[in-house]
Amino acid sequence: MKVVHTIQELRDHLQGQTRVAFVPTMGNLHEGHLALMRLARQHGDPVVASIFVNPLQFGPNEDFNQYPRTLQQDIDKLEAARDVYVLFAPSEKEMYPEPQSFRIDTPKGLGDILEGECRPGFFEGVSTVVMKLFSCVQPRVAVFGKKDYQQLMVVRSMCRQFQLPVEVMAHETVREESGLALSSRNRYLSEQEKAKAPQLYACLQAVRAQIQAGCTDVAQIEHDAAQRLALEGWDVDYLTLRRQRDLLTPESDEIKAGEALVALGAAKLGSTRLIDNLEI
Ligand code: PAF
Repeated sequence: MKVVHTIQELRDHLQGQTRVAFVPTMGNLHEGHLALMRLARQHGDPVVASIFVNPLQFGPNEDFNQYPRTLQQDIDKLEAARDVYVLFAPSEKEMYPEPQSFRIDTPKGLGDILEGECRPGFFEGVSTVVMKLFSCVQPRVAVFGKKDYQQLMVVRSMCRQFQLPVEVMAHETVREESGLALSSRNRYLSEQEKAKAPQLYACLQAVRAQIQAGCTDVAQIEHDAAQRLALEGWDVDYLTLRRQRDLLTPESDEIKAGEALVALGAAKLGSTRLIDNLEI
């Protein structure tokens, strides 16, 4: 695997390649990321991964400084897995040689709800860096994880509206046996919090069970789910049931008619904020 830190080196390695499959990450790689690389390998050649902790997508009181930076361990994992041909690990100066005054604005109703509401500027930061990374890598295929469900929808929408020649593929969330979704932020959890963390997914499963039992009262379902987590000591940002197609709240009739749904949750355990979702 070649490890490159500049856009010029990246372009030199990828010259003439038309089937690049790309996996953008912020590093601290775990099995979930490695699954994305494997999917990329099935759909393109060569596979390019990036590791860049993007300052633009962190709010002033978020964990940008704390975010785990483990480049050598990440390189070792990628070398062992043998799916990636080029790892692009740029510096902040390389990605943002001047203040990034052009930014991708995200659509109202998608970019400013849920994560966008809790983390103002987050999706603008993600979209802007993804657009820049796409411009550097010029992939035919890009792979994202479904754990960041709304991010996946924002990126897809951006590619559609800007008519980017990139097929965005999604990989299912990889979970521990307990149900806890793998995330780089899990490493912030204390032992005690780690034991409680699977409650978030359990709560989403309870939402699914209510739907499957014929309940169509969304407000009641959301209230029950949020209360269940709050009683366990979580600080809940949202616990909500939405339509898969546009993340709007489904009408009861739509639920009865079998509308594809997704339960999404974001909540803090101590100072660690976790997100998860479950398609229904
Ligand atoms: O999901 C992530 O790791 C990041 O948001 C991404 C897509 C790499 C952009 O920085």
